[in-house]
Amino acid sequence: MNEDFLHKKIALRKEQNAYRQLRFATTAIDFCSNDYLGIATNDLLHTAVQHHKTGSTGSRLLTGNNELIEKTEALIASFHDAAAGLIFNSGYDANTGLLSCVPQRGDTVLYDYLSHASIGDGLRLGLAQSFSFLHNDINDLSKKMVAAKGNVFVVTESVFSMDGDMAPLKEIAALCRQHNAYLIVDEAHATGVTGNKGEGLVQYLGLQQQCFARIHTFGKALGCHGAVVLGSTALCDYLVNFSRAFIYTTALPPVSIAAIAGAYDVFPLLHNERAHLQNLIDLFQSATTRFKKLHSITPIQSVIIPGNAAVKAAAERCWQNNLDVRAILYPTVPKESERLRIVLHSFNTKDDLNRLIAVLS
Ligand SMILES: Cc1ncc(COP(=O)(O)O)c(C=O)c1O
Repeated sequence: MNEDFLHKKIALRKEQNAYRQLRFATTAIDFCSNDYLGIATNDLLHTAVQHHKTGSTGSRLLTGNNELIEKTEALIASFHDAAAGLIFNSGYDANTGLLSCVPQRGDTVLYDYLSHASIGDGLRLGLAQSFSFLHNDINDLSKKMVAAKGNVFVVTESVFSMDGDMAPLKEIAALCRQHNAYLIVDEAHATGVTGNKGEGLVQYLGLQQQCFARIHTFGKALGCHGAVVLGSTALCDYLVNFSRAFIYTTALPPVSIAAIAGAYDVFPLLHNERAHLQNLIDLFQSATTRFKKLHSITPIQSVIIPGNAAVKAAAERCWQNNLDVRAILYPTVPKESERLRIVLHSFNTKDDLNRLIAVLS
């Protein structure tokens, strides 16, 4: 079979020094996983999943629904002070499933330029017009809102996955109120970490009543898999009827749902872990490194090393020192903003971090 059309594109990736390869997780010190609180690393959900079935037999609309899922959705909605919640199989599915069907033809979606790929992909699947606004730029958003037609949706992350900075959510919510726009916030990297109990930035700021929808993912600080869309009962009812990413897929099995419910029992209580994380964040932010560090008060810390070759070499130096730090290459991030994306965890020690700082100094 002639597969030249594949080989050509792969060769191009290699020429750009942007070729991606799968590799196994290592025993090096973890400065790259999303397991912010160590729930997965320390196997804290082991007991919660015992005696739960591992098989799933169909879509939620066929045989995949059960009391455990619905109870877990209610528990999560209550924890996050929302009227209702609907579990999706991943954060990617939640974003694509929501954004492809809620904004409709004639509507406008304004989304932060640095939004996660799943947000852009969801919009591409839908029929509404969509425009990005400059990252965290209220003036640009405001200008674009004036020109927007139909129902207007504003989409942002609360903590940005690549830069680790936070959205100016209060200002964005006020603008949405002023323009009757629907605010959608992806809390993937705030869940478990931001707020006294890890409830996320929206609740930390008391903005839950001003959000049309929130997305919390379970594959990061919660150490499991899946995501929830929080909103009104009408929104969840609508998604059950129109969201293709919800309808046309096999439901998560009971064992996964039990892990999610277990995570909601565990993470709100991990106060010491969040406090230690904060100390590590402060330590890293105050350290001097050879490369430019982005300002971030979250566990995601970026060190900008322009050029795919240069950033790969820096990651390699970390590896040689038994530090697992990953390079984020163009085209995942714009050219000249290639970076080491350093993720801090509650299980990293100050000594671990000082070692990393020494390699970068
Ligand atoms: C902001 C954001 N939203 C959504 C997702 C997707 O979540 P999941 O990994 O559960 O598919 C990610 C994961 O990388 C993310 O960073």
